[in-house]
Amino acid sequence: MNINGEWVGDDLDTINVVNPANGETVGTVPRGGEKEANQAIEAAHNAFHSWSQLTAYERAGYLKRLHQLMLDNTEELAEIMTLEMGKPIHESRGEVKYAASFIEWFAEEGKRIYGETIPSHVSGKRLQVWKKPVGVVAAITPWNFPAAMLTRKMGPALAAGCTVIMKPSGESPLTAVKLMELCEQAGFPKGVINLVTGSSSKIAKAIMENDKVRKITFTGSTEVGKILIRQSADQVKRLSLELGGHAPLIVLDDANVDVAVKGVMASKFRNAGQTCICANRIYVQSGIYDAFVEKFSKAVEELKVGNGMNESVDIGPLINQAGLDKVNHHVDDAVNKGASVVTGGKSITEDRGVFYQPTVIKDVDQSMVVMQEETFGPVAPIQKIESLEEAAAFANDTPYGLAAYVFTENVAKGTRLIEQLNFGIVGWNDGAPSAAQVPFGGMKESGIGREGGHEGIDAFVESQYVSIGME
Ligand code: SIN
Repeated sequence: MNINGEWVGDDLDTINVVNPANGETVGTVPRGGEKEANQAIEAAHNAFHSWSQLTAYERAGYLKRLHQLMLDNTEELAEIMTLEMGKPIHESRGEVKYAASFIEWFAEEGKRIYGETIPSHVSGKRLQVWKKPVGVVAAITPWNFPAAMLTRKMGPALAAGCTVIMKPSGESPLTAVKLMELCEQAGFPKGVINLVTGSSSKIAKAIMENDKVRKITFTGSTEVGKILIRQSADQVKRLSLELGGHAPLIVLDDANVDVAVKGVMASKFRNAGQTCICANRIYVQSGIYDAFVEKFSKAVEELKVGNGMNESVDIGPLINQAGLDKVNHHVDDAVNKGASVVTGGKSITEDRGVFYQPTVIKDVDQSMVVMQEETFGPVAPIQKIESLEEAAAFANDTPYGLAAYVFTENVAKGTRLIEQLNFGIVGWNDGAPSAAQVPFGGMKESGIGREGGHEGIDAFVESQYVSIGME
């Protein structure tokens, strides 16, 4: 852990970080709790005044150094990531670049936090809106994107003038430790960025009870998001939440099958299907159904499963046994209710790894668990639909509203369909819509607020209206 510029925690119990590809312990981090979280909050609070007083250009200087350091250390960051959570090494390299892009983009965006001058209703007043950083921010992040979820939060927070406490997931905290080292090398002043590892519940308790923390930014499950909403009520802490998804992917009759297959491959199998915006349920119109199932299944059969450190691997392990159990349950339930497995459909647990074969199931329907819950695994269930209206109705039949995908070459149909979809992100003929400069976040139970883009920095500033009397 790093608190107020010091590496601490040697005296604490440790958490083992286990490689899900082979069960080996790849490192340990201290099991911090309330005491350490409060120390980090104190450090961030003390650093806030001077950090927030720097110009946006000075803060951008630190962030740009961090951006370059991340790129210079891509290989080490990527290896750590693959070892601690399993994603294929080429995806880890991609994540490092993606993560660094948030730091670069927000370094610049911090220079564009504009206030306002509003025409007055009387001659003796000037009315202005000033922008202020929200204060100390706690960033709580998940295991599936150990670098990008941190930088998507700390980039805008730091650029806006906030100070930060990072709390990475216990499953993949080592990438955050390396990132913290790079923050040190970038020269951030003491206390501006702090890293606390350990018990999520104890650290979250301290964050919620300490009134010096003014903002929580969290990526994780809807279940935990709801707990944070309740807990934040007492001190009316600001919240940004990026929660669960259950993305529909719709292929209409007039889609280009090759484009659709490429899009589904990109969306469904990124990170072995362990992505909040992964296509989780696929609806294909009857006229193109057989052709799509055939081409898609062939492409899926080509995917290579194995230890992510192997350069040729496309699908790494799931994060743990509980993740594997969930995938098994979703497939078994679908098969028991009448769906058929076209390819895959089995877990692979040799060498203490937790893998699942890339799987296509066809003839699924809405009654199956796989069409109702987020699977978080490499399983593509395909349901036949007859019309655009049916597709929209099935797609929206969920409490979630993070991402959706539409494949059609017909602009009018695509437009009409997307207008009906209640999802914060839509990929139209595109299976990989994420980028630093666009808003990322969900409707309904998929979250509150947006990360990325100019909305991503608005989340870390408050408006202060100033009425200036001139008489
Ligand atoms: C996520 O799973 O929440 C992150 C996916 C992304 O940023 O594209």
